[in-house]
Amino acid sequence: MIKFQKVTKHYNQGSKALDNLDLEIHHGEFISLVGRSGAGKSTLLKLIIGEEEIDSGRILIDDIDISQVRKSDLPYLRRKIGVVFQDMKLLPKRTAFENIAFAMEVCGHRAQGIKREVPKILELVGLAHKRNSFPGEMSGGEKQRVAIARALSHRPVLLLADEPTGNLDEVNANEVLELLIKINNLGTTVLLATHAADLVNKLKKRVITIENGKITLEQEKGHYKL
Ligand SMILES: Nc1ncnc2c1ncn2[C@@H]1O[C@H](COP(=O)(O)OP(=O)(O)O)[C@@H](O)[C@H]1O
Ligand SMILES: [Mg+2]
Repeated sequence: MIKFQKVTKHYNQGSKALDNLDLEIHHGEFISLVGRSGAGKSTLLKLIIGEEEIDSGRILIDDIDISQVRKSDLPYLRRKIGVVFQDMKLLPKRTAFENIAFAMEVCGHRAQGIKREVPKILELVGLAHKRNSFPGEMSGGEKQRVAIARALSHRPVLLLADEPTGNLDEVNANEVLELLIKINNLGTTVLLATHAADLVNKLKKRVITIENGKITLEQEKGHYKL
């Protein structure tokens, strides 16, 4: 699904954020991308969604070279991808339902489809009962699940999660992780970037360790030690 071929990325004149990196991600995989702060995890995710450009190498998404995609076609590519961040950036004056509905509106979905889909997505993330709650009335884990629901609303084939548990306590973090696994079991490829070793070790999924912009370890059902 995604191939990185000798990808190098610098910011300014500084050191390399990604250094000649090769990586292959297959449809249906759940991959944890781990490494210390500054290792290059967020950069890798930003390159996949075209938010940053590479200096050299190639990134292929389903055999399409993303550096060859016209700017005007990027939104179509991005729609295959859902993104979740540590800071979930929900709209504070909108309910859970409205936060998801708004994202769908922006993507051009019609009102009828939105009315039909949002309850299904809320059900999927276990928040049907919170549809009319505002972000201020929800726990951190619930808010993150709304953000995940929003990311899923255009039915992406790939979900990128950048430190989605970074602001959560252990109970809430586990909830979010269980949801990511459920989503993966339903067929969506998941790429989870985190520095939380304890969480990743529980997953027993493919782990990729990145240090100074290079992959230093790949394990199928790996354990991760900082
Ligand atoms: N916008 C930016 N401008 C300059 N340097 C950056 C920028 N974003 C990241 N970097 C640098 O690139 C390296 C990798 O950062 P990042 O991908 O954010 O790592 P991680 O997500 O693993 O913490 C770090 O050295 C960081 O300081
Ligand atoms: Mg980061």
